[in-house]
Amino acid sequence: MIIKNNNTFHLQGKNISYVITVNEAGDLIHYHFGKKLADRDYSLKNEKLEYSLISYDENNIYLETAAQEYPAYGYTDLRTPAYKVRNKFGNSVSRLLFKDYSIMEDCVAEVEGMPCLFKGDKSAQTLEITLCDEAIGLDVVLSYTVFDEYDVILRSSRIINKSDEEMAVESAYSACVDFDKNDYDLVYFPGAWCREREFTRVSLNLGEKIDISNARGGSGHAMNPFVMVCERAANEKSGEVYGFSLIYSGNHSSLAECDQYGNVRVIQGLNPYEFQWNLESGEQFSTPQAVLSYSNCGFGGISRGMHDVYRNNLCRSSWADKNRPILINNWEGTYFDFNEEKLVDMAKKAKSVGVELFVLDDGWFGKRDDDLSSLGDWVVNKKKLPSGIKGLAEKINAEGLAFGLWFEPEMVNPDSDLYRKHPEWAIQVPNMKPSLCRHQLMLDLANDAVCDYIINAVGSILEDANVTYVKWDYNRMMNDMPFKGYNHKYILGLYRVFDTLTKKFPHVLFEGCASGGGRFDAGILAYSPQIWTSDNSDAVSRLKIQYSTSVCYPLSSISAHVTASPNHQLGRITPLKTRAEVAYAGIFGYELDITAMSDEECEEVKKQIEFYNKIKELVRTGDLYRLQSPYDSNYCGWQVVSKDKSEAFLFSCRILSQANFKDAAIRLDGLDAAKEYADAETGDVFGGDELMEKGIRPVYEKQDFSTFVKLYRAK
Ligand code: GLA
Repeated sequence: MIIKNNNTFHLQGKNISYVITVNEAGDLIHYHFGKKLADRDYSLKNEKLEYSLISYDENNIYLETAAQEYPAYGYTDLRTPAYKVRNKFGNSVSRLLFKDYSIMEDCVAEVEGMPCLFKGDKSAQTLEITLCDEAIGLDVVLSYTVFDEYDVILRSSRIINKSDEEMAVESAYSACVDFDKNDYDLVYFPGAWCREREFTRVSLNLGEKIDISNARGGSGHAMNPFVMVCERAANEKSGEVYGFSLIYSGNHSSLAECDQYGNVRVIQGLNPYEFQWNLESGEQFSTPQAVLSYSNCGFGGISRGMHDVYRNNLCRSSWADKNRPILINNWEGTYFDFNEEKLVDMAKKAKSVGVELFVLDDGWFGKRDDDLSSLGDWVVNKKKLPSGIKGLAEKINAEGLAFGLWFEPEMVNPDSDLYRKHPEWAIQVPNMKPSLCRHQLMLDLANDAVCDYIINAVGSILEDANVTYVKWDYNRMMNDMPFKGYNHKYILGLYRVFDTLTKKFPHVLFEGCASGGGRFDAGILAYSPQIWTSDNSDAVSRLKIQYSTSVCYPLSSISAHVTASPNHQLGRITPLKTRAEVAYAGIFGYELDITAMSDEECEEVKKQIEFYNKIKELVRTGDLYRLQSPYDSNYCGWQVVSKDKSEAFLFSCRILSQANFKDAAIRLDGLDAAKEYADAETGDVFGGDELMEKGIRPVYEKQDFSTFVKLYRAK
C-alpha cells in the first residue's frame, strides 16, 4: 500500500514501512525503512530536518548528515553520491529538488531492456517521484514498488537530460538508503573460482567506506551483487537485517559508508568504474532494479523473504514453478573424450536408476577435443556424433530421457571458422592484440549483428533437435573494453539475446553457468530458474558454498551434482551418501561416469533418487532455516519446512570426526509447535515443540564428513 500524507510518502509491505518526506526546501528525505509504522503524517516532524554546528543555508538546511533518497555530489553533502552527471560546464555539482510524483496501483515498475520483477498474481503499487535540477536541466525519476505480501522495496532510477546540450552520466546507482542508526555490520559474499560466495562479516566503523564491487565483466566469482547491513547483535535467527540485491549480471557496486557522525549510507547499482553514458538532449538512462529487503528475524528472515520473491516474481520461464528433472551431465564423467555410443550407454544406465534428463556438456561442436578451439562454431562434430544432435537426442529420448545441451554462445576461439570470418566481432581495442583467457575471446554483444548471430546459431539447433534443456556457460572475464560504459552495453545485448531465446523456446529449461558460479545473480535468474553453483563439486566445499548462496538465492536456483570420489577439483574422498545428501538441498543431479559405477553403487544412487523425489517439491518451495554454520563450527545444518508446516527435511553434516565427543542436539525451527511430526523412516513421533525446544540428537557415522538427513511429516 502507498499512502500520501501531506509531504510524506509511506510505502507499506507485509511487515515493513518505507517512509519518504519532502523537506521545506524540497530535498527528498529518507525517513524510515524497517518495521511497519502506523499511517500518520510523518512530514510534521521534519520542519527542521538537519542541524549542523558548522553552517546553514538560508533555509536552515544542511545536507551533510541528512538522510536522503538520492543524494547528489557537492551541495553540502560530501559523502558518496547516488549519481554523478557531468554538465556542460564540466563539473558534476548538482542538487535535486522535488518536482512531481505519481502513484500507480496494481503495478510493478519495469526497466526497459533489463530483467526485473513482475507482478504475477500479487498486489503491488509503484510510486514514481520526479526530482529536478533546474540549473543544469536534469530530471531524475525515482521508482519504488512495494508488494502487499512481501517485505521488499524495489528501486530503480531514470536520469533524463532536459537540457539542450549533451551531458555525461558518470555514475547512476539504483538505490540509496541513509540509515539513521549506527553501529552496523556489513555482510558480503566475496570469492573466487571454486570458492564462490564466502559469507563475510565486518564492522562498519566511523569514517569507513567499503566498496563491495566487481569490474570483471560478469557479476563475478569475486563479489556477488548482494549485501546486507545488520545490527551488531544480529544473527541467523534474530536482529534487524537489511538486504540489497541487484538484478544485474555485469559490473556492480554496493557501497557502504559510515561517515564521521556514524551515519550509514548504502548505495547499490552499476559500478561507476570505467562507466560513462552520454545523453543527448531529451535522452534518458535507466538503472537496473535493486531489491531492498528488511527482516527483524535475522539473516534467516531475509533469506525466506528473498526466496519467496525470487521464486515467484523474477523468472518468467515456464519452469520457474515446476519441479525440475533429475539430470546427469557428462562433463566430469568424460570431459571432451566421448562418442555417441558412450553417451547412449551413460543415458541407458542413468535411466535404470531413475535419472530423467541427459545433458551433453562441452565438446560436441566444431573440432573441439580440448579447450583450444571451435567456440563460435555451433555445428555438430560428426566424427564424434555421426547422428548429429538431432539423431543423438532421438537416441537419448528412445532410452526414456529428455536431452539437454551445453553452449557457450558469448565466446569465440581464434581457432574457429567464426573468428576467421569475423575477427572484428571479438571484443578488442585498436592497436592491441585482444587478451586470451582459457584460449578464448569474447564476442561483442554491444553489436546487434553479433547478438543476432547468437540467437540464430543457438535457435536453429533448438528448432532442429529435441533439446529441452540448455546449459548457458560463460567462461572468462571481460578485458579490452573499447570504451567507458561498454560493459553495460554488452549486458543489454546479452539480455536481448536471453529475452528472445527464452520467449521463442518457452519449453526449454535454461540453466545459467559461468565457470561454475561466476554469474550467480538475479539478472541471470530472471531467464534461467537454476544456475550451476560452482565448478567445485566436492561435497565438503559445497557445504559453505551452498550455505552462503542460500542467503539470498532460493534452493530452487542452486544446481548441485553428485560427482566422483576422489573429487576432481581437490582430491578429497567422501562417501557417496555425503555427496548426495549435500546435493539434496538444491536442484539435484549427477555428473560422473555412471557406467563405471558398481551395481552396489547404482543401487545406492537409485535409493537417493527415490528419496530426492520425495523431497524435491518441498526443497523447491519450502521455507529454509539454516541451523548450523560451517563458517563458525564443525557442523553444517539446514532445514526446509513446507509452507503449510506439514513436512520438514533436515540435513546436518559433522565435518571432521571427533573422538570421545558428544555432538549437540539440533533444534529444529519453523515447525508448528502444536503439531505432531513422525520420522518418515522410523515412524517415531515427536511434538513440533519438542523438535524445536529439546531438539534431536544427530547420529553421525564414525568418520569424517558424515551426514545425517531426516524427513518429518505432520500426523
Ligand atoms: C565450465 C563449466 C563446467 C563445464 C566446463 C566445460 O567450467 O562451469 O561445468 O561446463 O565449462 O568446458
